[in-house]
Amino acid sequence: MRKVWSSPNQTGELMSVRVLILGVGTVGKGVLKTILGKPEFSVCGIASSKGYIYSENGLGQEALKQMAAGKKMSDAADFKQGSAMELVKEKEYDVLIELTTTDIKNAEPAFSYMGEALVRGKHLVTSNKGPLALHFHELDSLAKKNECMMRFEATVGGAIPIFSTIRDYLADEKVGSVKGILNGTTNYILSRMFEERIPYATVLKEAQDRGIAEKDPSYDVEGIDAAAKLAIIGASVFGKKNAYSEVKRTGITHVTPEILELAAQRNYRIKLICSADSKGMEVSPRFVGLSDPLASISGTTNAVTIETGSAGPLTLVGRGAGQNETAAAVIADLVNIEKNTR
Ligand code: HSE
Repeated sequence: MRKVWSSPNQTGELMSVRVLILGVGTVGKGVLKTILGKPEFSVCGIASSKGYIYSENGLGQEALKQMAAGKKMSDAADFKQGSAMELVKEKEYDVLIELTTTDIKNAEPAFSYMGEALVRGKHLVTSNKGPLALHFHELDSLAKKNECMMRFEATVGGAIPIFSTIRDYLADEKVGSVKGILNGTTNYILSRMFEERIPYATVLKEAQDRGIAEKDPSYDVEGIDAAAKLAIIGASVFGKKNAYSEVKRTGITHVTPEILELAAQRNYRIKLICSADSKGMEVSPRFVGLSDPLASISGTTNAVTIETGSAGPLTLVGRGAGQNETAAAVIADLVNIEKNTR
């Protein structure tokens, strides 16, 4: 694996790993806040859609603190108008942290940023679902060819360590299937409709107010967000080639309070379940028996059951979205890269 810049400085200490952050939205600010307390990393550049700031030896802590607290990057003294691609292509850094807005239709511009960084031999951490759901194998091949690590824990299940559990802890196991609740908005809607008898439109508005719904909430309720997450599992765990287009998808728009009630009378809950195995991938509302751990997952919580050979089923439960949770997954990936590339 390609080593990061780690030569000792004059006092013999290892230099900080230089990171370039693309995207200063909710997740970007969360990542900045955490990185500021970690001397093993130095942020040498940040870019938004409007421009960037960059310093080869690391940006000043004060400027970063202010930005994490919400100050506009364009107010920084050394702000330059220019494209993020300029930074990715031309500047020095060790790890690209790609956190720009996702696009599930064409994955751009994030896919190009990631591809360019990998070609240049830069390690990659991302929370961006589109490029991984649509082009997982292209990115994975580029990473391998250029001896780079590519980590994407934050794309699926927020802070739940799905991929590292499968990759590291279950390295010696055959994973038979992965099944879970991977969209917090729809789980929140179904839970509130059932538990509080609140109408669909009212709960959807609540989910939007809580900031968990996608900008276009049809991406949640039609199962698109869940399908993108499932495609990343399908491609990375089961080797699916055209993962996103192969996902069979049904959303929750036809689930009524009457159906939820009827299911409850028969000791079931209805959940938007994502499932993947070597045969295929499906997102759909399904009856879940009360003995299944997924039946009791309510609100915005996510959960995933990994079916293994000898370890049996493992169910991981955690917060599926939110600034701190998603930032925690990004930082865990970054630390993992640092530990493996010094
Ligand atoms: N809209 C998504 C959800 C956000 O509700 O799960 C996290 O990917």
